[in-house]
Amino acid sequence: MSESLIYALEHVTYQYKDGKIALEDINLQVAAQERVMLLGPNGCGKSTLQKILAGLIFATSGIVTAFGEKIQFQLMKDRQFSTAFRRKVGFVFQNSDVQIFCTSVLDEIMFGPLAMGMNFSDAKQRAEELISYTGISSLSHCSPHHLSGGEKKKVAIAAILAVNPEVLIFDEPTNGLDPKSQRWIIDTINQLNQAGKTIILATHCLESVPELADRVVVLGENHRIIASDTPKAILTNREILLAANLIDPRYHLHLHGTDGHVHIHKRDEVLNS
Ligand SMILES: Nc1ncnc2c1ncn2[C@@H]1O[C@H](COP(=O)(O)OP(=O)(O)O)[C@@H](O)[C@H]1O
Ligand SMILES: [Mg+2]
Repeated sequence: MSESLIYALEHVTYQYKDGKIALEDINLQVAAQERVMLLGPNGCGKSTLQKILAGLIFATSGIVTAFGEKIQFQLMKDRQFSTAFRRKVGFVFQNSDVQIFCTSVLDEIMFGPLAMGMNFSDAKQRAEELISYTGISSLSHCSPHHLSGGEKKKVAIAAILAVNPEVLIFDEPTNGLDPKSQRWIIDTINQLNQAGKTIILATHCLESVPELADRVVVLGENHRIIASDTPKAILTNREILLAANLIDPRYHLHLHGTDGHVHIHKRDEVLNS
């Protein structure tokens, strides 16, 4: 296996206990420092796939290799292995409330470093660096549960970054946030990628694709990968976008400028403009 390959998935399926199939025959490789966007409609399996990549759940069948090791429940039960794995892979959940559990922002961000065995004063220093980096110094002693959605997301990201993982997985990171918080998230993710992090994102929203992805992996409603290509190739492939239920047939998608900025218009608006 090539050294720069972080993940290799072969014929991975996932079935929930109630029998619901969430992923079918997933074949996927992720290279170090790539920004991979999992794009697909609600319910296609993006979050399930991210949880498998984060070692939180395990493929029902098929092979998941991460950092050259086959990831299985038995292996993850080994505390030494799971601690090392969790240090390498950080998962920012779609809903920050399921991630945040401490009574102050500072405690929340110190939790990871302390759990990894860092001493108290180094963990505090590390947390303070992250609090400053994410611009939440004024919130340091607040209860994270009382913050706004955008502030909670910053706390969740700071808490993940505190253990300095090399892979960062973001589930619908801009969902439900105001435009300023969305801009902060997009810029921060790109900064982290430039600093060498591998980024795996999930979204059903086309607008953020050109700015956030090197490669787009499209999951269809059949829970299979139906395309994997550059953002431009995917966003100009109307057939794929329709097949994946990502655009309304009555709407028209435009890519603008060199950054491939996306606009979605209703067809008559295009005709009238
Ligand atoms: N805990 C669960 N138990 C049973 N089915 C689930 C569970 N979580 C998700 N699913 C189902 O698995 C499929 C994929 O879900 P999910 O990975 O959350 O999709 P996405 O993130 O793309 O919206 C959906 O049909 C969903 O209803
Ligand atoms: Mg999801």
